[in-house]
Amino acid sequence: MTLQRIKLSVLIATLVLSLGFFITNMKIRSASARAGNNHDAALSFEMTAMQQGAQQQADPPVEQVQKNIKVLNGLPVSQLIPVMNFMASSLGVRCDYCHVRGQDGHLQPDSDAKPTKQTARGMIQMVLNINRTNAAALQGATVTCYTCHRGQTAPQNLPTLPIATATRGPGGAAPVGVGAAAAALPTAEQILEKYITAIGGRPAIAKVQTILMKGTTEGQGGRQMPFEITLKSPENLLTSMAAPQGGTFSRGLNPSGGWMRGPRGARAASASDLVQMKRQAQAFWVLKLSEPFPKMTVVGRDRVGDRDAFVLESTPSENMKQLFYFDAETGLLLRELIITKTMLAPLPEQFDFGDYRDVDGVKLPFMLRYSNVDDSTQLSITEVKSNVPVDDSIFKMPPPAPAATPTPSRP
Ligand code: HEC
Ligand code: HEC
Repeated sequence: MTLQRIKLSVLIATLVLSLGFFITNMKIRSASARAGNNHDAALSFEMTAMQQGAQQQADPPVEQVQKNIKVLNGLPVSQLIPVMNFMASSLGVRCDYCHVRGQDGHLQPDSDAKPTKQTARGMIQMVLNINRTNAAALQGATVTCYTCHRGQTAPQNLPTLPIATATRGPGGAAPVGVGAAAAALPTAEQILEKYITAIGGRPAIAKVQTILMKGTTEGQGGRQMPFEITLKSPENLLTSMAAPQGGTFSRGLNPSGGWMRGPRGARAASASDLVQMKRQAQAFWVLKLSEPFPKMTVVGRDRVGDRDAFVLESTPSENMKQLFYFDAETGLLLRELIITKTMLAPLPEQFDFGDYRDVDGVKLPFMLRYSNVDDSTQLSITEVKSNVPVDDSIFKMPPPAPAATPTPSRP
C-alpha cells in the first residue's frame, strides 16, 4: 500500500512539478519581454535564465548586487523582482510608475528621478516599522502595501457613504472563510483519504507508470502555445514547448541532473533551476500522496469559485506555508496556495486545478492555472496517455547544437 502510494504520488507530483517548471520557463521570457528585451525572446530567455542562475547559486543581499538600495537591505536578490511585482500590483501600477524609462525604452531602476519612487521608499520604511513595532497587536498578521492600497495609488481612508448596512447583521456579519465553523470539520486524514478515493483509489493509482500529455498554454496576453510533457518516474521528465520565433524550448530531468534547450542550443540546468524544481516538488508534496503525509492541519472552510472547500495547511519551512483546498463534496484538490515570507510582504503563488477527467482509472486535472502577483498562465490539456512505453534516453541532455545552425521553423 505504501509503495503504491509512493508510486502514484511520484507520478502526479512530477507531472505537476513539470508544469510549474514549464510555467517558470515561460514567465522568465515574458518578464524579459516586458522589460524591453523582446527583440529576441530566445536570447533574452537564455540570458535571463543564466543571470538568475548566477544570482541564485549564492543568493546575496540585494544591496551587494544592485546600485541604489537604501531600505531593502538584507533582502535576498532572488526576491527583489517578486517584491517589486507585489508593490506594483498592490498599487495597481506598472514598474514605470516609480522607475524612469530611458529613451531606449529600458527601465533605469537605480535612478531616483521619480518622486513616486522616493515616496515608495518612505512607504517601505513605514511598513517595515509597523510590522517590527506592532507584532503583539498584529497577532501574527502582517501589514503590507495591499492592506492600505487595495490596487489603488491613493488608499481610501473613509468608508463610502451610504454604508452598506445589508452586510451587517446584529452584532456584525458572521465570519466566513478560513477559520470559520471549525467545530464541524473533518480531520486532515479524512480529507486526504477522500481525495485518494476521489482520484481513483490506490490500486488504480499504482498502475500508472508513464504519462504523456499534450495541450496549450495561454498567458494573460492571450497567446497560445502548444506544449508536450513526458513523465517516467519522478526522475525522468521532458517538457517541450514551441518557441515564439520558431523552434522549441525543452527541459529535461534525469537521475543525473537537468538541462534546457532553446533554439540556440542546450545547456545544463543551473543551480537555480534545480532549486526551483525542488521547491516546486515540495510545493506539490500533497499530490504525491506518499506516506507519511506532510504534517497538515485543518484550518477551515472557504470558497473556491462556486465550490465549497476544506482548507488544509502545511508549513514545509519557516518561510513557506502551503494551503490546500479540497472540494468539500467531490474530495478533489481545487487549489494550492503557496505563501513565501519575505522581509517586506508575504508573496502568494496559486495553482488552480479543474476539469478533472478519467485517464485509465485515475482522475487528472485537465486545467491548471498558475498565478502570482505578476501574471497568470493557464494550461489546457487536450490529450493524456498513460503507460505508453518511454525510452530513458529521451530524458538525457542532447548534444550541444552548433551555435550558428539556424533552427528549422515549426510546421
Ligand atoms: C511603488 C513604486 C515601485 C514600483 C511599482 C516598482 N519599484 Fe522597483 N524600486 C522601488 C524602490 C523604492 C526601490 C529602491 C529600494 C531601496 O532603496 O531599498 C526600487 C528598486 C528597484 C531595483 C533596484 C535598483 C538599484 O539599482 O538599486 C530594481 C531592479 C527594481 N526596483 C525593479 C523594478 C521592477 C522590474 C518593477 C516592476 C515589476 C518595479 N521595480 C516596480 C519602487 C518601485
Ligand atoms: C498604512 C497604510 C499604507 C500602507 C501600508 C502603504 N501605504 Fe502607500 N500611501 C498611503 C497613503 C495614505 C498615501 C497617500 C495617498 C494620497 O496622496 O492620497 C500613500 C501614498 C503612496 C504613494 C504615492 C502615490 C502618489 O500617487 O503620490 C506611493 C508610491 C505608495 N504609497 C507606495 C506604497 C508602497 C510601495 C507600499 C508598501 C511598501 C505602501 N505604499 C504601503 C498609505 C499606505
